Amino acid sequence: MTVWNPETYLKYAGIRFRPALDLIERIPLGHCERVFDLGCGTGHLTQALQERWPEARVTGVDSSAEMLSHARAEFPKLDWLQADILQWHADEPADLLFSNATFQWVSGHEQLFPSLLAQLRAGGSLAIQMPRHTDDPGHVLMLETAMDPRWRSRLEPHTKRLVVHAPEEYWRWLSPHAARLDIWETIYQHELEGENPIVEFFRGTQLRPYIQALPEDEAKQFVNAYAEKIARAYPKESNGKTLFPFRRIFIIAER
Ligand SMILES: C[S@@+](CC[C@H](N)C(=O)[O-])C[C@H]1O[C@@H](n2cnc3c(N)ncnc32)[C@H](O)[C@@H]1O
Repeated sequence: MTVWNPETYLKYAGIRFRPALDLIERIPLGHCERVFDLGCGTGHLTQALQERWPEARVTGVDSSAEMLSHARAEFPKLDWLQADILQWHADEPADLLFSNATFQWVSGHEQLFPSLLAQLRAGGSLAIQMPRHTDDPGHVLMLETAMDPRWRSRLEPHTKRLVVHAPEEYWRWLSPHAARLDIWETIYQHELEGENPIVEFFRGTQLRPYIQALPEDEAKQFVNAYAEKIARAYPKESNGKTLFPFRRIFIIAER
């Protein structure tokens, strides 16, 4: 199981939180009493939800003890729950089920998303953002590097295929159950600074299981091999910055 490191994750907080803040902007809810943040991680977005709906009771749900302990320490007034979101059920009908950058780690969206929608009170919203970057070099080259014969046998068991479907699939699965649907995609053009910034970005998420699975010296070789490919795929621009296009899907389903 992946051990998350909140500090590494937060190094690119601006990029990671931007889509969540864009999603919150579009949620069509006025008054809200019960809100859950599924896969809340470090809790910063749970706090953003509490600020947006100060009258609500907001609970952050996550399976990672490391992430939750960071969230608890930083935002002690909020409510936190350690649980697997696949097993979890709302303890009362919710006004908002929110999730940023989490459901790509979990399969079975066709059944799962309608079942989440059913846990809302009438008029409530399910709001989900996931990266949809599996065709991008940053993702493809990571898999390619993991399949290098030097470490393939040890990394293959840790290769979790991210499962994010096309927007129209979500529309088909949710439209029979939703009063209204708002689904869109955005490709952010992130401008990154420094050496190997894309490798550093993925160090906080998808590289973690691989780095953890190898002894330290081999983990370094693996990251260096990935970094060489990334430097060719995303060369620095004339101003020294690295352009990092990143596609994300947004879903708001109202019950
Ligand atoms: C990329 S982080 C996103 C955290 C936060 N939502 C954010 O946007 O900053 C993904 C989070 O999902 C959590 N997660 C992944 N699978 C989960 C599951 N099955 N149940 C609960 N949490 C899960 C991880 O522990 C991690 O904190």
